[in-house]
Amino acid sequence: MCGIVGYVGGTNKAVEVLMGGLRRLEYRGYDSAGIAVIDEEGVLNSVKRAGKLAMLSDELKRHPVNAGRTGIGHTRWATHGGPTDENAHPHLADNGKLALIHNGIIENFGPLKAELLAEGYTFESETDTEVAAVLLGREYQRVGDLGEAFRSVVARLDGAFTLLALHQDQPGVVVGARRNSPLVIGLGDGENFLGSDVAAFIEYTRRAVAIGQDQIVTITPDSVTVTDFFGAPVEVEEFDVAWDASASDKGGWSSFMAKEVSEQPDAVANTLRGRIVDGVVVIPELAEFGDEALARIRRIVIIACGTAAYAGQVAKYAIEKWAKVPVDVELSHEFRYRDPVIENDTLVVSISQSGETMDTLMAVKYAREAGAVAISICNTQGATIPRESNAVIYTHAGPEVAVASTKAFVAQIAALYLFALHLARVRGTLGSAELLEHTAELQAIPEKIATTLLQGDAVRQLATWMTDSRAVLFLGRHVGFPIALEGALKLKELAYIHAEGFAAGELKHGPIALIEPGQPVFVVVPSPRGSAHLHPKVVSNIQEIRARGARVIVIAEQGDAAVLPFADTVIHIPLAAPLFEPLLAVVPLQLFAMELATAKGLDVDQPRNLAKSVTVE
Ligand code: F6R
Repeated sequence: MCGIVGYVGGTNKAVEVLMGGLRRLEYRGYDSAGIAVIDEEGVLNSVKRAGKLAMLSDELKRHPVNAGRTGIGHTRWATHGGPTDENAHPHLADNGKLALIHNGIIENFGPLKAELLAEGYTFESETDTEVAAVLLGREYQRVGDLGEAFRSVVARLDGAFTLLALHQDQPGVVVGARRNSPLVIGLGDGENFLGSDVAAFIEYTRRAVAIGQDQIVTITPDSVTVTDFFGAPVEVEEFDVAWDASASDKGGWSSFMAKEVSEQPDAVANTLRGRIVDGVVVIPELAEFGDEALARIRRIVIIACGTAAYAGQVAKYAIEKWAKVPVDVELSHEFRYRDPVIENDTLVVSISQSGETMDTLMAVKYAREAGAVAISICNTQGATIPRESNAVIYTHAGPEVAVASTKAFVAQIAALYLFALHLARVRGTLGSAELLEHTAELQAIPEKIATTLLQGDAVRQLATWMTDSRAVLFLGRHVGFPIALEGALKLKELAYIHAEGFAAGELKHGPIALIEPGQPVFVVVPSPRGSAHLHPKVVSNIQEIRARGARVIVIAEQGDAAVLPFADTVIHIPLAAPLFEPLLAVVPLQLFAMELATAKGLDVDQPRNLAKSVTVE
């Protein structure tokens, strides 16, 4: 969702920095964009346009903004008011001398707007953001300092916000504030940056500082000051960004998605790196809990949304089998608002690629307020959810730019499996031989994913044949069930085809009514060796749908002969123990959705209506 970038420096490159930063934040999803720059003559210029960045670039060619050293830029994902030029940010106030951008939702903007209207202020947009801009303009006129004006404005706002503003009477200063929405500082040499995430400034610096909840930051070319909402100074901690700028480039691939799907072997290998020593899982991030505290856990609640929640569903099978702890997997937004039972021996594990998903953030905060210990699995350094958790296990998938999650999913499962094996060891539920066996399986996964990716051509051909499909079903059992759900989600979001995932055993309880001649059905088939009891049941399910005319595409282990007579198409995956099959079976389903969307001429990196980082509830 909304992307934010701010810049102050000694050279006249504000427009270049802002446009470059917005380009790198494009992946978050947006429908309009704009910048505001204080130019060389000290005049504030603002240009904004509905549509993609190319529209803003064209507008900047028609109406160039003079070079400047101070600026803010924004990509907007519409919430209050449609994606129009007027509603795009920045919003101006104080007679066009102040510009403000915003990510989040100001919940009490209605009464604030009424108050300002009554005082004679006027508005040009339908947004909640313009209310904050006008309020800030009014306060600036009163106190004459942006930082002080910010402090009185944030005290009046309810909801979630990152706000960034500049004023032409204070050139060389950008002020930002954050509550529940992301904001990170980039530390340069004679220049400083602000961004929704590090991608905004990674081209210029890898030194960063995450801003905490309810904090205000003021940057000038030579200084960074962080305070709380009342003006008290706050200690901050610098970190080095592990990603480099090229990691967030397409690198010759046709799309970020194609690149990221291909990076999955590395995403898993990097997540495992250094965390398995002589067959023993080592997670220093959990050291502060001590083994005894982990051994005392009686229940785990996994909270996440979308694809991350499916990673959680896969992990439930592994944690319960290996560590013998009951696991509930909950969608964050459902968990948060239903008075869930949380006891002091409940461990909450959140999963989030971005670390900014508002639903998950609110669920983590709620759980901690209720007394739970919260661990997060996250892919983004400096993000909010890890900061709100007691500990974080980072996945090292590298930046995921395509909106649809792929490499983060397999990395999440790998991290959760490490956690499950660690838990099993401290709880004594697995012996060392079993631990060795499972860690060896995990370490073999990157190579097996690489082998699975070799199915790319076969999957592309299948996708090309199926571009006219109106609905596609996905079936799986056991760990294959969340993979069926994930396959369906990928197809929906990328190819805009109605897709549903079902537990194969549930079919006869209703969904089988959907089967008619020619209906395509993907079936994730468990290994006949590892799941001897389940395999024949899935083969029976396949026969049931075949008998009703379904066109069956199976994802099956190499050498699974029993399934061949009943399949129209077979996609093979390498041999793996049952709990590890999801890490392989998901790959052809990702490829299928990507290839089908590509064959339909759709944008696989930025599907319609979606945002990468969902920072509103
Ligand atoms: C689907 C997808 C989304 C995300 C979900 C959670 O491809 O990407 O379903 O998985 O929005 O996002 P994070 O992991 O950032 O919390």
